Amino acid sequence: CGIIGYVGPRSLPEVLVNGLRRLEYRGYDSAGIAVVDGGETRVAKKAGKLANLTAELAEVPLPDGSAGIGHTRWATHGAPNDVNAHPHRATGSNGNGSDRVTLIHNGIIENYAELAAELAADGLVPVSETDTEIVALLLGREVESGTPLPAAMRAVCRRLEGAYTLVAVDSDDPDRVVAARRNSPLVVGVGEGENFVASDVAAFIEHTREAIELGQDQMVVITPEGVEVTDFDGAPAPTRAYHVDWDLTAAEKDGYDWFMRKEIFEQPRAVADTLLGRTDAEGRLLLDESSISAEELRAIDKIIVVACGTAFYAGLVAKYAIEHWTRISCEVELASEFRYRDPIVDARTLVVTISQSGETMDTLMAIRHAREQGAKVMAICNTNGSTIPRESDAVIYTHAGPEIGVASTKGFLTQVVACYLLGLYLAQVRGTKFGDEVAATLAELQRTPEAIQRVLDDLEVVHKLARDLVDAPSVLFLGRHAGYPVALEGALKLKELAYIHAEGFAAGELKHGPIALIDTDLPVFVVVPPKGRDQLHDKVISNVQEIRARGARTIVLAEEGDADVAAYADTLITLPKVPTLLQPLLATVPLQVFACELATLKGHDVDQPRNLAKSVTVE
Ligand code: G6P
Repeated sequence: CGIIGYVGPRSLPEVLVNGLRRLEYRGYDSAGIAVVDGGETRVAKKAGKLANLTAELAEVPLPDGSAGIGHTRWATHGAPNDVNAHPHRATGSNGNGSDRVTLIHNGIIENYAELAAELAADGLVPVSETDTEIVALLLGREVESGTPLPAAMRAVCRRLEGAYTLVAVDSDDPDRVVAARRNSPLVVGVGEGENFVASDVAAFIEHTREAIELGQDQMVVITPEGVEVTDFDGAPAPTRAYHVDWDLTAAEKDGYDWFMRKEIFEQPRAVADTLLGRTDAEGRLLLDESSISAEELRAIDKIIVVACGTAFYAGLVAKYAIEHWTRISCEVELASEFRYRDPIVDARTLVVTISQSGETMDTLMAIRHAREQGAKVMAICNTNGSTIPRESDAVIYTHAGPEIGVASTKGFLTQVVACYLLGLYLAQVRGTKFGDEVAATLAELQRTPEAIQRVLDDLEVVHKLARDLVDAPSVLFLGRHAGYPVALEGALKLKELAYIHAEGFAAGELKHGPIALIDTDLPVFVVVPPKGRDQLHDKVISNVQEIRARGARTIVLAEEGDADVAAYADTLITLPKVPTLLQPLLATVPLQVFACELATLKGHDVDQPRNLAKSVTVE
């Protein structure tokens, strides 16, 4: 989501709406602003793009005011409609709350159900389905009991679990905006006689280029005259001030040259967010929305994953994990092929559909067909309230945030995570042998964001490779087991972005055909599985030797400390240690970066490759 807060002499609706325009790439499900004006806070909010809000403001203008907040939403809890749009007041549905506090939020409050129950016992009931309003009600309760808003914010933050940026105003304190952050971005813009807070500098760089970065678990109070940063206990906190020298376009991309590169670097956060809040108090996994009963899930005898493009490759990864963990047979099919082959689908089939946008027509048609045959449909989707989840029986949302680059990156990684969650969920519901290992696997998954970050911290070898291979006419990618879909995705990225001929193969198939393509200097990427109890690792290493013996250039992705590979790798890309089934979360990342870098060197438009569209809504 995009967030802005302002105190100062300018017209609030103007500053806030202009700021939101710069942040619209962060979310466009709904937009809203709140303006404090002489003891009263006025709110305007609308579902849909910012244009809907500006049309509303043209009809019912808000006053210039003295302080205010603005938000553009990418829905996580609750559908993208007017009621769920931010800002949220603390009034509550029965008016028992406070009419002083108004709040906006970016992130996910993990323990919101527990907090909501506590508020309900106090007669405080929310109007919306959002986790945000629960925080507003908590803040309102504190303020009404005589605590000033900054202290109230600290007290509430100490009770919240999850990720959040919160920005609030109090009608009785008209020259102050209070903001706090944990695991979610927040920067302060320092002006003269005015100050800003925002989720990124794009929101305010037309007014000031002096910024302060807030650290983890910090809170800031801005007034026209000053900025005060503390920790959640009220102690003064160290901050880092800096000067922003980006232009506006660079600011939207957070200083990156492409949205795609920015999205690649957002992956640790996107994966962590997708894993947030997935278990109940007893450690059992939860789905976001479901009308499929545990009984029905126990009766399922077949899973078919349908998806297109990159999402299809996420489905291929899912097959390895789901079959291993649940012992249910899992097929993966391109959505465009599915319904035309008269598939065998009935009430005991679970169709899993994966779509970042939730609008891909081929995928939508496939699930309609599946439901006509009586199958239950589970959607994995990044876009809350889009058509595919609406037409499905159950949903697991990925929390990647909006993906602007046409070629999917953080969308893919979070889809893979959601597939793992689904596999674990089914294992739990069906009580398979693997059921006991769910907690251990979840713990492994929780460590992957940090491992992905380590891959991103060490990309020099990948950049050099892109420079070396900029003129390569063709590139091959090989992988086996969960590394096979990674090879396919690596090849797809290179085709999409660099317009280079690239193919992905199952490493075991090399000897059955592709080996004929191996020629001197042909670059071949090989994803080597971690050493395990089976022979996979050694077999793939033999493939690397075979390729190298024929003069090709081997680019090997392998686990750090794998002493067997080094001798056969012309270029070695090392990956942190994770279990084989989770390795796609790491191995895909250097391949994304390679394609992005090579396309940049070739001078292509990485965010909008030729002939491609982000969301294909025709069959
Ligand atoms: C388009 C995009 C691909 C994407 C595919 C599926 O073709 O260019 O990057 O993987 O659609 O999109 P979805 O939104 O259904 O995940």
